[in-house]
Amino acid sequence: MVKKSFPLRNVYGLLEPGPVVLLTTAHAGRSNVMAMSWHSMLEFEPPLIGCVVSDRNYSYGLLKSSRECVINIPTVDIANKVVSCGNSTGARTDKFSRFGLTPVSGEYVTAPLIQECFASLECRVVDTGMVAKYSYFVLEVMKAWADSTLKHPRTIHHLGRGHFMVAGETIKLRSKMK
Ligand SMILES: Cc1cc2nc3c(=O)[nH]c(=O)nc-3n(C[C@H](O)[C@H](O)[C@H](O)COP(=O)(O)O)c2cc1C
Repeated sequence: MVKKSFPLRNVYGLLEPGPVVLLTTAHAGRSNVMAMSWHSMLEFEPPLIGCVVSDRNYSYGLLKSSRECVINIPTVDIANKVVSCGNSTGARTDKFSRFGLTPVSGEYVTAPLIQECFASLECRVVDTGMVAKYSYFVLEVMKAWADSTLKHPRTIHHLGRGHFMVAGETIKLRSKMK
């Protein structure tokens, strides 16, 4: 490997954490959806997830006030809708109807599940200690929904500047005994 200096502003694209998801929120009669790729697993069970929701986004206020959300995991077939949700604000438009996403009621939270996504995680905010400094919310998954007939979901992964990697080949490796 011959490595050269790499722009710091592009580092996130090297260490992309997982699939781009659609974060849904709801508060005081308004619901919304935004694209999110800066998230990370923090614990197995109950599942804890850390994520950055910028205070420049309309979703930030809904999440902070309601302390609830749903993480919906889309596949490549709705990639254009996902990017549209990441390039528009719910402050001015109803993105569900504008982009043809179907909101479905969950069991634990007011924020809707998205019908077109193969998995949806109902979450509550359990730690806001890093919100003021980093807009970093810690979420606990209270209920998970998934279409397990989809054996190898072709999720999309953000590489930066409009480029996405599509999950494809999967391999199984024997895990080493400790
Ligand atoms: C692929 C992609 C990933 C994104 N990831 C994040 C993220 O992790 N955190 C964030 O705050 N904004 C992220 N955004 C930006 C928001 O989705 C965008 O600002 C959106 O317009 C916010 O919508 P809202 O104002 O309706 O909340 C991402 C956008 C795209 C296209």
